[in-house]
Amino acid sequence: MGALIFHPAAIFGALVVAISSIGFFPSVVIAYPGPITRHYTFDVRLQNVTRLCHTKAMVTVNGSFPGPPIYAREGDRLVIKVINNVKNNVSLHWHGIRQVQSQWADGPAYITQCPIQRGQSYVYNFTLNGQRGTFFWHAHITWLRATLYGPLIILPKHNVPYPFAKPYKEIPIMFGEWWNSDSEAVINQALQNGGGPNVSDAYTLNGFPGPLYNCSQKQNETLKLKVKAGKTYMLRLINAALNDELFFSIANHSVTVVEADALYVKPFKTNIVVIAPGQTTNILLKTKPHPPHSRFLMAARPYFTGTGTFDNTTTAGILEYYTTTTTTSKDHNAPVIRPTLPPINDTAYVANFTSKFRSLANEKFPITVPQTVDRSFFFTVGLGTNPCPKNQTCQGPNGTKFAASMNNVSFVLPNTSMLQSYFFKKSNGVFTADFPTSPLIKFNYTGTPPNNTMVMDGTKVAVLPFNASVEVVLQDTSILGAEGHPLHLHGYNFFVVGQGFGNFDPKKDPAKYNLVDPQERNTVGVPSGGWVAIRFFADNPGVWFMHCHFEVHLSWGLKMAWIVEDGKLPNQRLPPPPADLPKC
Ligand code: C2O
Repeated sequence: MGALIFHPAAIFGALVVAISSIGFFPSVVIAYPGPITRHYTFDVRLQNVTRLCHTKAMVTVNGSFPGPPIYAREGDRLVIKVINNVKNNVSLHWHGIRQVQSQWADGPAYITQCPIQRGQSYVYNFTLNGQRGTFFWHAHITWLRATLYGPLIILPKHNVPYPFAKPYKEIPIMFGEWWNSDSEAVINQALQNGGGPNVSDAYTLNGFPGPLYNCSQKQNETLKLKVKAGKTYMLRLINAALNDELFFSIANHSVTVVEADALYVKPFKTNIVVIAPGQTTNILLKTKPHPPHSRFLMAARPYFTGTGTFDNTTTAGILEYYTTTTTTSKDHNAPVIRPTLPPINDTAYVANFTSKFRSLANEKFPITVPQTVDRSFFFTVGLGTNPCPKNQTCQGPNGTKFAASMNNVSFVLPNTSMLQSYFFKKSNGVFTADFPTSPLIKFNYTGTPPNNTMVMDGTKVAVLPFNASVEVVLQDTSILGAEGHPLHLHGYNFFVVGQGFGNFDPKKDPAKYNLVDPQERNTVGVPSGGWVAIRFFADNPGVWFMHCHFEVHLSWGLKMAWIVEDGKLPNQRLPPPPADLPKC
C-alpha cells in the first residue's frame, strides 16, 4: 500500500472543442459542458484492513478506507446510490452541503431519515448550487464515521477561477482515527457503563498512521507527498477524526490559508493549522525553489483542554522533493526534519489562529451578514450527568453516567425520522417544540460549577419562521471541566460575528461584533471556557440538526434540532419525500 493521493484531473474528461464555421468569421470555440449529473454507487460492505499490525473487518464504502472521493463541479447534480450490505443500520451525510430543496438527502439518522437497513438502499439526490470547495461525506449514525468517510470536492464552474493563482496540483488530506478494536463496541460499552469511552490508537493521514507509531514504520503505512520544487500545491485538509481537534504543521514550510469550510477567506500565512472535526481548510503550500537534501514530516496531534483521557499520539506523513523535474528522489536516507507543534492545551495559540479568519467580502464574493436580529438564542454547551440506573454501578463522575447537553437538555434521538413526522404533521409523541431559548437556570457558566450537574433528557426543537435573522450565542460551561466544542449546523453556513473567553456579556460584547467581514462556516469551535456568537438567515426550510462534532459528545446528547418553517413561494417549501426514503 503506497500513498493515497487523488488526481482530480483524471476524473474530469477533456474539454469539448468544437470548430464553429457558422457565419463569416470561422473561429475555434471552446465549449465547456454545462452542469451534469454524476452517478455514484456506494456499496457499504465489510473489508479487512490492517494498520499497526492489527487486522480488522471494518465497515467501508466499496471496500476502501478512507472511502472513495467524490468530485463534482458547482451546479452539478449528485446521484449517489447507497446499498447497505452490513448488519449495522447506515446513513450518510454530505457535510456542509446546504441541501436546498433536497432536505431528505441530508442524512443524519432519525433527524432527516430513518437509517438504511441491511439489504436496503437509498438514493441521495441533490444539486450543488452556490457552493464550491472542500467538503466531506461521512456516516451519520452511531460511530460508523470512524471508517465511513471520504472527500467531497466541488470545483468552481468551468472558466471560473479561484480567487488566487491556480495551484499546480490539489491534494486532499483527511485526518482520521484508527482503532485497533471495534469502535462500535467502544461506544456501546461506554454508553452502557456511563464512563468515558476508550480512545483511538492512532491518528491517520488519508488512512495512514505514519512512522511515529510502533509497528507502522515497516508496513509502509505512511502518506508520502512527492512534490516538485518551485510549485504551489493546494492541500485540502479535512478533519474527519471522531473526537479530536488537531494541530497540523509541515516542517520548514509555512502555508497560506485560503478557504475554510468551503468558503474563501482573506489569505493569511501560518506555520501551524488548527482544525476541528467537521472543519475543512484549504492551504497553499509553496515548495522551495530548489530541491532540498532533506525530507519533511507533516505531523498532526491533538489540541485538548478536557479532563478525560484522550489519544495523545502524533500522526505524520512525509513531504519529499523530486530531485529533478523528471526523476524521483532516490535519496531515501535524506534526513527527516520534524515540525514543532504547540503544547497539547495551547488555547492561546488556537484563539489567535481562529481570530485570523475573515470572509473575502469583496465584489466577486460578497456576503450578507444579518445586521439586525429577529430571533436571539443563548445556548450553554457542555458536559453533565445522568443518574445511574438502579441495580447497576456506573463509571461516570461519582458513580453517575456521563451526559452532555445544550441548555441542559440532553437530546434523545427519536425512533423515527423527525423530518418525516414533521412533514406529515405526525410529530405528537416524537418531539416537542419547546427547546429553551436560554438556560432555565442561570449560573456562572465558566466559574465554579453548580453542585447539581444532572441534565434533562428530551427531544426538543426550536422553531424559526422562514427567513428570520437568527443569532445564537454558544457558551461553554465548566461543568466537569471546560472544553472546546466544534459546533456544526446542518443546512446552513453561518457568520461567526464574535467570540471571547469567560461568560458572554450581552451588554458589552455585541458592540465588538464584526458585521463587516466575519468568517462564514458550517462548524465553529466554541472556545474552551468561552463563547462564540453566530448569525444566519433561516432561509432553508426543514429540520436541521445542530451538534458538537466530537462523536463522544454527540453520543452523550450535545445536540438539538431546528425547525425552519416554510416560506410563501413554492421553492420556499419543504418538498415531499422521495419514494425510496427508508422506513424505520
Ligand atoms: Cu459532519 Cu451532523 O455532521
